[in-house]
Amino acid sequence: HNHIDHATPEKVEAAIQAGATHAHIPPYQSLEAYRAEGGYQVLTELRSSGDWEAVQDKVLASGLRGLGGAGFPSGKKWGFVRANPGPRYLAVNGDEGEPGTFKDRYYLERVPHLMLEGMLIAAWAVEAARCYIYMRDEYPAVLEILRREIAALESAGIVEPNYIELRRGAGAYICGEESAMIESIEGKRGLPRHRPPYVAQVGLFDRPTLVHNIETLHWVARVCREGPEILSAVEKNGRKGLRSYSVSGRVATPGVYLLPAGSTIRDVIDAAGGMAQGHNLKAYQPGGPSSGLLPASMDDIPLDFDTLQPHGTFIGSAAVVVLSDQDNARDAALNMLRFFEDESCGQCTPCRAGCEKAVKLMQAEHWDQPLLEELCTVMQDASICGLGQAAPNPIRLVMKHFADEV
Ligand code: NAI
Ligand code: SF4
Repeated sequence: HNHIDHATPEKVEAAIQAGATHAHIPPYQSLEAYRAEGGYQVLTELRSSGDWEAVQDKVLASGLRGLGGAGFPSGKKWGFVRANPGPRYLAVNGDEGEPGTFKDRYYLERVPHLMLEGMLIAAWAVEAARCYIYMRDEYPAVLEILRREIAALESAGIVEPNYIELRRGAGAYICGEESAMIESIEGKRGLPRHRPPYVAQVGLFDRPTLVHNIETLHWVARVCREGPEILSAVEKNGRKGLRSYSVSGRVATPGVYLLPAGSTIRDVIDAAGGMAQGHNLKAYQPGGPSSGLLPASMDDIPLDFDTLQPHGTFIGSAAVVVLSDQDNARDAALNMLRFFEDESCGQCTPCRAGCEKAVKLMQAEHWDQPLLEELCTVMQDASICGLGQAAPNPIRLVMKHFADEV
């Protein structure tokens, strides 16, 4: 099952002997193997006689939503981008920086061509002049796999040389914010831009740009080949589709689990082999630190887009971190705010000063809750991007559900 392999000295040595420039390249599906099972047939057919709107309809019918975390309907973006005159670009967001999220890495280290074919289908649909893949440098194996497989696509004549450009991120969380990523690809400091205009209108090099997350493109390829029903026909607890939950923390078997989108935290923990021995569920982070923490009593909510909003949070990239009776919710929230303080790009005061101030207030023995609440309101209302807007979530949720700790 689904656990991430770790590099051992033997594996590292074997990988170096095999010519890898970076350590530990896991076994993955090559271009040849992918084509043997029908890979790139859809792309070839579409390029010769395809109707982009028919493909868009298929993607919309599947219910596929942006799996970077925002859940924007994927097919709709194609229409937004096409509404603007070319040249247009496609940028793939592989800067999977949300703590606890590792699903993109999981898929790329196993089946990289699903993302690559999905990317080329989307690029065809919006007539992209070029594709940029922005990949975090903390995934050396993924970078090496992509380098090899992009070269293989060029050799096979599936893409023109230099049509796909692979870019390495340099470790800044904020460069996963789509407009900061675009600034970074342009060679500038990764500072988020104001919206509107959206990147669909003014994106990379001021051109209309389609931005998709890695996993979104993986599903574009699957939906096009296998049909929209692979997602739309899955129903659970009134929700449709599938989610790749990255599960870590106090569970027996951390890993990536593909489950119905209507799964609750109990279902997710069951999939991960149950709680780790000697631990009882106390709280969980549903989707990255910006989603804060929910208490164990809220264990019957489907962990999907839209279902968590009434509870003051969201599923985001489905990075589930499980906390037990041996953990402290207050410490977890402080840790999350320290992360935001470190990663704030510093461009706007509510976030730059707000995160710093919040960390100071949260270090006190007793939290000054009215002052923290005031600070949260300013950060949420006045920050430029999602980092500062969502940073108050852990503070508010811990004050609400774990009042005895603060
Ligand atoms: P958003 O909802 O503002 O935008 C989502 C996408 O839809 C963007 O591509 C945006 O350009 C597009 N869009 C929205 N409205 C549009 C319109 N009217 N016209 C054209 N395009 C439109 O969300 P955002 O700020 O891009 O992402 C926030 C999410 O990112 C959070 O939910 C968080 O969970 C997730 N996240 C994921 C990380 C990861 O490592 N996967 C890291 C950090 C955050
Ligand atoms: Fe930068 Fe934070 Fe402002 Fe976003 S909210 S632009 S990360 S300072």
